[in-house]
Amino acid sequence: MTTFPSAESASCADSFGGSAAPVTVFGPDFPFGYDAWVKAPTGLGVLPAEALGREVAVIGGGIAGLVAAYELMRLGLRPVVYEAERLGGRLRSERFPLPTAHDDGASSDGSSEAVAELGGMRFPVSSTSFYHYLELLGLRTEPFPNPLTEAAGSTVIDLGGETWYAETLADLPDLFKEVAEAWDAALEREFGLSGLQEAIRTRDAQTLKSLWNKIVAAWDETSFYEFVSRAEEFADLSFRHREVFGQVGFGTGGWDSDFANSMLEILRVVVTECDSHQELVVGGVEQLPVGLWNRAVNDSPRWPKGTTLASLHTPRPDPSEASRTGTPRGAVASLRRLADGRIAVTETSGEVCSYDAVLATCQSWLLTTEIDCDESLFSQSLWMALDRTRYMQSSKTFVAVDHSFWKEIDPHTGRQVMSMTLTDRLTRGTYLFDNGPDQPGVICLTYSWMSDALKMLPYSAEKRAELAIRALEKIYPGLDIRSHIIGEPVTVSWESNPYFLGAFKGALPGHYRYNHRMYGHFMQEDMPDSERGIFLAGDSISFTPAWAEGAVQTALNAVWGILTHFGGRTHPENPGPGDRYPELGPVELPE
Ligand code: ARG
Repeated sequence: MTTFPSAESASCADSFGGSAAPVTVFGPDFPFGYDAWVKAPTGLGVLPAEALGREVAVIGGGIAGLVAAYELMRLGLRPVVYEAERLGGRLRSERFPLPTAHDDGASSDGSSEAVAELGGMRFPVSSTSFYHYLELLGLRTEPFPNPLTEAAGSTVIDLGGETWYAETLADLPDLFKEVAEAWDAALEREFGLSGLQEAIRTRDAQTLKSLWNKIVAAWDETSFYEFVSRAEEFADLSFRHREVFGQVGFGTGGWDSDFANSMLEILRVVVTECDSHQELVVGGVEQLPVGLWNRAVNDSPRWPKGTTLASLHTPRPDPSEASRTGTPRGAVASLRRLADGRIAVTETSGEVCSYDAVLATCQSWLLTTEIDCDESLFSQSLWMALDRTRYMQSSKTFVAVDHSFWKEIDPHTGRQVMSMTLTDRLTRGTYLFDNGPDQPGVICLTYSWMSDALKMLPYSAEKRAELAIRALEKIYPGLDIRSHIIGEPVTVSWESNPYFLGAFKGALPGHYRYNHRMYGHFMQEDMPDSERGIFLAGDSISFTPAWAEGAVQTALNAVWGILTHFGGRTHPENPGPGDRYPELGPVELPE
């Protein structure tokens, strides 16, 4: 296992001294140490005795819903989780249905580690709250085989019909270095990147806020492309440099799909190191949400030792192993405010339950599509934010292969026969997962966003795999990928699923105010009674969308909001996000 440097130093707030400390997702909009809050031995807070055991509806069993449900259970509330599809949300690991016996040496018991990560697959080590939960469950991580990393071994870059083979950036032509240097210099000159990161390393919230707040006001309305095309560092370079920047420019590459997004959004990614030092979860990240569902609490003032979220839910009538301890409730059809102020949650089955508090972690558009909501539950300005929030498309297609054949060395070139591949062709990114010698390997033939994902949208898994292989054959003429494939391809387009409508949020220029409204909604003291008691969390609400850390942090905001809603409070030595919000909350722009 690779140790993640951020995790050990995140154990208490005091250890964040000096610039050797890691960059973490500490703000920048709201520099609150969620990692320290959630790890503190004092716990997250205390509820009044009469609130213990009260039910809270949690809509959505993804990572935001399950982190919130787990922490609410620890506090002594009774979370009731509603899940329309499958626990895990966009942390979904599909196990390959491999043939049980294979002639050519593939695993014969079907129990290989061959998984396709359909949603989140690479987790930056700066995501210290997310890693807290991985550690809690003892899940192992390993470096993700991203372009130009040691874990990938080698990388092939294929742009405009030209192909380069590289192990590190130094192996590529000068053009690539010029692009990388222009980007670094532009970020430093315009935003003072190293100063922002130093404030994060030392957890100097005041300095970080004073730097970041100015950037927000000036940069919310500028697109990523405008920044790149106008920066003086790029001005003397060619258009080709900009194209190359878009295709391999920074981090994991392929960022031209984001050119229309707000520059603030992209800057957050860089400042918090979300697109570098990423790890995968061995055996599949879905083990995390499912693990939280089955994780016993031992320190709850209400629940006996050994209580799990699963055990708090009613078992299904059929006594099969998997369902013995209870399953979440089904899809939600409507949310209504009752005369007594409680909120009624109706399932598509027709069953109705009412609650003092409801947490909606689903994609925000579902509150106007799948779920029929009383309009009065949210202000019109919040509805504007929920509905304008913009989601990005993404598709992936995977195949299992008999073994990691790509590691074989071509005797003529002395290079691997196939590498992690970044290209401007249809596939965009191809990732190779080695599960050990004589084990089936997994190839993510294509992972793409936006227009490239839409090109795949109408097609079956077979057709998508065929299209991807055809593109790869142009890059690797003579390599027979097909002969290694075992079983059927696995594919996903999150935008075609009515419970997701996209893969992750990507804020457009001018969206900061929307994010601000949604993010701060857990602070409900000043809201009219008609809008209180319903909380929001998840990727839609996050300031760092497309990374699970944002889902976790917004879930923890909601936990603070719900704790307060039931008359509880945090420990004086371990203030929570709502306690620090008046002082450190995201800057408000004039409406
Ligand atoms: N975190 C996701 C990944 O590593 C998405 C990154 C892209 N984010 C974005 N806004 N385009 O693939």
